[in-house]
Amino acid sequence: MVVKKICCVGAGYVGGPTCSVIALKCPEIHVTVVDLSKSRIDQWNSDKLPIYEPGLDEIVKQCRGRNLFFSTDIETAILEADLIFISVNTPTKTIGNGKGRAPDLKYVEGAARMIAEIAQSDKIVVEKSTVPVRAAESILKILSANQKPGVSYQILSNPEFLAEGTAINDLINADRVLIGGEESPKGKAAIEELCGIYEHWIPREKIFTTNTWSSELSKLAANAMLAQRISSINSLSAVCEATGADVSEVATAVGLDSRIGSKFLQASIGFGGSCFQKDILNLVYICECLNLPEVAAYWQQVVDMNEYQKSRFTAKVIQSLFNTVSGKTVTILGFAFKKNTGDTRETPAIHVAKTLLDEGATLKIYDPKVEEDQIYYDLTHPAVCESPETVKKAISVYHDAYSACENSHAIVLCTEWDEFKTLDYHKIYHVMMKPAYVFDGRKILDHQTLIDIGFHVQTIGKTLQRPLLTRFCGGNTCMH
Ligand code: NAD
Ligand code: UGA
Repeated sequence: MVVKKICCVGAGYVGGPTCSVIALKCPEIHVTVVDLSKSRIDQWNSDKLPIYEPGLDEIVKQCRGRNLFFSTDIETAILEADLIFISVNTPTKTIGNGKGRAPDLKYVEGAARMIAEIAQSDKIVVEKSTVPVRAAESILKILSANQKPGVSYQILSNPEFLAEGTAINDLINADRVLIGGEESPKGKAAIEELCGIYEHWIPREKIFTTNTWSSELSKLAANAMLAQRISSINSLSAVCEATGADVSEVATAVGLDSRIGSKFLQASIGFGGSCFQKDILNLVYICECLNLPEVAAYWQQVVDMNEYQKSRFTAKVIQSLFNTVSGKTVTILGFAFKKNTGDTRETPAIHVAKTLLDEGATLKIYDPKVEEDQIYYDLTHPAVCESPETVKKAISVYHDAYSACENSHAIVLCTEWDEFKTLDYHKIYHVMMKPAYVFDGRKILDHQTLIDIGFHVQTIGKTLQRPLLTRFCGGNTCMH
């Protein structure tokens, strides 16, 4: 089989950008991205794409209508495709056995059942969603149990390693592409087909082929180990604050060891995003099911440390504001889980906002890319609040940082957007209530300049000097 047509089931953060890059790099391949959500597909076909990702607009504009198509006609796309990516969501289960930890594979299963029902010819089915080890076996079972005469399937695992905010660069200049498949001749042939697609732009030596289970586990392992580095440095940030060490200096010193390296050692308010927590919990659940409780406990600690970091930071905000934020106005700068994305899934900003709201604060929120509706949705979600009406009254969303800071008692910086580094903090100081506080949850601001302006400044992993005069104001309850 030579792959001429690709169908991607799931037009989300992975399916959309991945297939856009495939269409760009493989002009002879016809790529159709399908989704059950009509509104999402409509957005992909409009001038305002459903996700913000630097460089994505240009690629979509170049390829859409040429060899890249977004459609709700799932049937035709599956019928015509030689190769089908499954890029659907795999959230954590919210009910039943494994609730709160096990991945909910209903969307993957749904996609497999659709393929089984529709397909009339041989297909290579590629698991791109992040799944537990041996999920490919379940997909194969569903496909085989519903197999039509003369139709055969090969299942490959091809996990995606892109990070949001840098997805296009990550796809075009991937560190590696991982493809797992069966070791049979047919399995090897299918692996070669998929290699052939990536080889349009990825050097062969960067395409790593393995057995299916290694590929599936490697994806969970990569996310777990990345998140583990963040939890490690965040745990040390607490030690820094208690001792006078500076976590940035510690991270640099440690990272200069070439065996450790400098990446993913940026102490923060805690990691967010749709995947780290979900994938580690998935790994923990697998370990528990495999009767490996010590291994499960080891990885669980990475998530626990992240929860601790988010709570520790928020507690510090409240403590510094004389132990009460009731009736005070707090500005949240940044709501996305990281810069250069509008994605708010598992963003630490939700934790901060929820805690402050529970303590009676009024919030003024600004993020350059998160839509107002999304912020209201996130903060009034039943998992976050009991009284949506009260929350709606207590928050307001702004379209620029300056108006979000007016008459506010404190700024809490939750996302490391570059524009926050260059704001005119003199101007901001003058429109804020006094004493004016800045809590830099990302360690990106020039703290000395802020202190010189008159702000009280707190950050992660470093204890800052504050203006002498104010040292008398807090007593024992005020931890500066
Ligand atoms: P997403 O929620 O943005 O997109 C998934 C899409 O699949 C949704 O639009 C949904 O409507 C659609 N869908 C679900 N079932 C369907 C069906 N049967 N037919 C058609 N469409 C269907 O999710 P995402 O962020 O793109 O993540 C997808 C997978 O990739 C997950 O397993 C995730 O863990 C993994 N992943 C995500 C990232 C990331 O940065 N977001 C990176 C690497 C891997
Ligand atoms: C992460 C991985 O980096 C991708 O390789 C993977 O494909 C993806 O998860 C996935 O499976 O979904 P992503 O979550 O998009 O990508 O973004 P990251 O850059 O990894 O950041 C995750 C979180 O960690 C963010 O909240 C970020 O601010 C935080 N972070 C990151 C830190 O706090 N410190 C760091 O040093 C790095």
